[in-house]
Parts: sequence; structure tokens; C-alpha cells
Amino acid sequence: DKGNHRHFMAKEIHEQPEVVGHTLSTFYRPMTETVELPAAPYDWAALPKVTMVACGTAHFACAVAKYWFEQVARLPAETDIASEFRYRNPPLVKGGLSIFVSQSGETIDTLTALRLAKEQGQHIAGIVNVPESAIARESDVLYPTNAGPEIGVASTKAFTCQLTTLALLAIAAGEARGSIDADERKRLTRTLAELPRLMNVALHLDEVMGEVAHDLAKARDVLYLGRGAMYPLALEGALKLKEISYIHAEGYASGELKHGPIALIDENVPVIVLAPSDELFDKTVSNMQEVMARGGRVILITDKTGAERAGDSAWHTIVMPDADPFVAPILYSIPIQLLAYHTAVAKGTDVDQPRNLAKSVTVE
Ligand code: F6R
Repeated sequence: DKGNHRHFMAKEIHEQPEVVGHTLSTFYRPMTETVELPAAPYDWAALPKVTMVACGTAHFACAVAKYWFEQVARLPAETDIASEFRYRNPPLVKGGLSIFVSQSGETIDTLTALRLAKEQGQHIAGIVNVPESAIARESDVLYPTNAGPEIGVASTKAFTCQLTTLALLAIAAGEARGSIDADERKRLTRTLAELPRLMNVALHLDEVMGEVAHDLAKARDVLYLGRGAMYPLALEGALKLKEISYIHAEGYASGELKHGPIALIDENVPVIVLAPSDELFDKTVSNMQEVMARGGRVILITDKTGAERAGDSAWHTIVMPDADPFVAPILYSIPIQLLAYHTAVAKGTDVDQPRNLAKSVTVE
């Protein structure tokens, strides 16, 4: 049932404030502002390393979480794509935790990677949306996401729920390891508790995104740029656009621009810049100016302060609600999803069933 939406994808994008709220309440206790995780055979304080493995969009959730585990928990974190991980014979640190992230819980590469890590004595945790799936069953500890059934082939609400769960794990790990104190834990959990409301505000960009998408739909190639935890989000934005609108798109770390991709820039290659006004903002603005100096057209997605600091030189400026940098990757998922969705609608492609793609990839 699509409710009053044209596509499952639109319905699932708009469900995010609610399902992110459900996912939060799995482990977050608002009265005490604590994170309570299920019993586990490992102690976050003693973990030498966390290794996160997944495919596609779920892998980009892991790539965001790497920044969180490193910054909040000072825990060495590695991520890999399951199809690479399973064949590269990785030297896994003894006593380490391997986390497998999957909406379906049936992705064959991720499942096989899990079995390999298990054989090598790793602790196994699953972040899975389908509780009766193979990855859920074979994990030592399950951290379920509560996104509800995701029907659209392009993952949207499962992604933000995976991010929410990973953010809670990073906070719990940080507290266990003493890298954050109770005040900082409260501050971080509060930013998560605020998310559903901020996501609702961001969903009001639906109409504006429809207008921007009208312009974007004419492009043949698009670049997405971001720094820090917004870099994996740039990768996710590019993946979402290409899979449903069939426009060629690539994501880059903003700082990599001058190491190659800048050669592509001209008036025909729109550049989408994901840049909340954090401490790296000025660097991103200078990357933006490099793009514009070469005739490139920028779609800047930022907050009010960022929009003021950037001036009105961008082709389009999308103003997001203010948010703590910690939760920005979750919040900024909304505009990139809306942009991909509306671009696909403008192009008339099959949004819920893109060509050549399957919802669950159970063959190699
Ligand atoms: C992209 C998308 C895919 C999946 C990937 C992993 O929108 O949906 O990239 O994220 O196939 O699927 P799961 O999470 O089921 O393991």
C-alpha cells in the first residue's frame, strides 16, 4: 500500500521520521538519556577493532559509522564491501568485532563474509531489517533496525535506520571506552532524539527538490562532493541518482577534486555539494569556488549559516534545518533521496523497479 504516494520510494522517504524514531527507541531510553544494548559476549571497552562489512547503500552506512566510531569512541574502525572482504583474506584482529549490515539479511556476499569472519573467531554482530533472515540468525548479537518492510528497490528508510543504530553503537562504545563522559553522551543522544523532528522539517523540501530535479534531469553526468562523514553520503547520493534516474553520477571527497575529477567540470556537469556549516565548511566553499571558476554549476545543500557564508553564487542553494554535525549524515540523507526521486520522476523512469536491479541479491 503506497498510501497517498505515487511510489513506494516516496512513501518510504516520508516514513523516515517515524521509523527512525522506532529504531531509536529500540536502545535509547529518553528518561535517563542512556543507550541500553542487548547483552553481548564482547566488551566495547576491550575491543581492539571493529570491522564493518556490507554491500551498496548498507556499505555507505558503515562508511559513515567509521567516522563515528573513530571520533566518538576512539575505536579503530575499518569498512569493506562484502564481495571484496570475502576474497581478500583480511588479517582480522583477535577478539575483534565484525558487524554485518543488511536490510534484507539475505545478501549472499554479506552472509558469506559473516561466515568467514566467524570461522576466524571474530565476534559477529548483525544490523538487519528483516529479523527472520539468515544474517540475523547467524549473528551472535542482533541489533535490529525497525524500518518496517522496504518495498522500493532503492534503499532509503533502511539506510537512515542503519545509520541511527550505528550512531547508538558508537555512543555506547564511546561511553564504555571512556572517550566520552555522561554529559557528552547526553548531548549526543539528545541530537539523535531531535532527529525525527528535523527530518520532518527537511521533508518540507519536497517541492523545492522537485524544481531542482527538473534542472538536474537534463544532465548526463553529475558529481557529488562531501567532506568527513558527508563524503560517504556523497557516494550514497550518487548511487541513488544513478540507480533510479540512470544519470551517471560519482561521489568524491571534496579534497580529492583537484586530484582528477576537476578535469570533468564544465557547464554540463552539475556538482552537488553536501556541506553543513561545520569546521570544514570554508574548505568546501573553496572547492565550490574552484568548480564555479570553471563554469561548473553547483547545487549547494547546507544550513542557514552555510548559505549566508557561501553567498548567492550557487546555481541552487538548498537550506536545511540546523543540526549537530554528529547527526548531519542522517538528516542530509533526506535531500539526496528527494533529489534522486524527483529526478527519476522527471525522467519518467520506473522508480520502484529500476531496470537490472533486484531488491535482494542472493546470487554472487
Ligand atoms: C541501493 C540498494 C543496494 C543495497 C545492497 C545491499 O539503493 O538498495 O545497494 O543496499 O544491495 O542490500 P542489503 O542491505 O539487503 O544487504
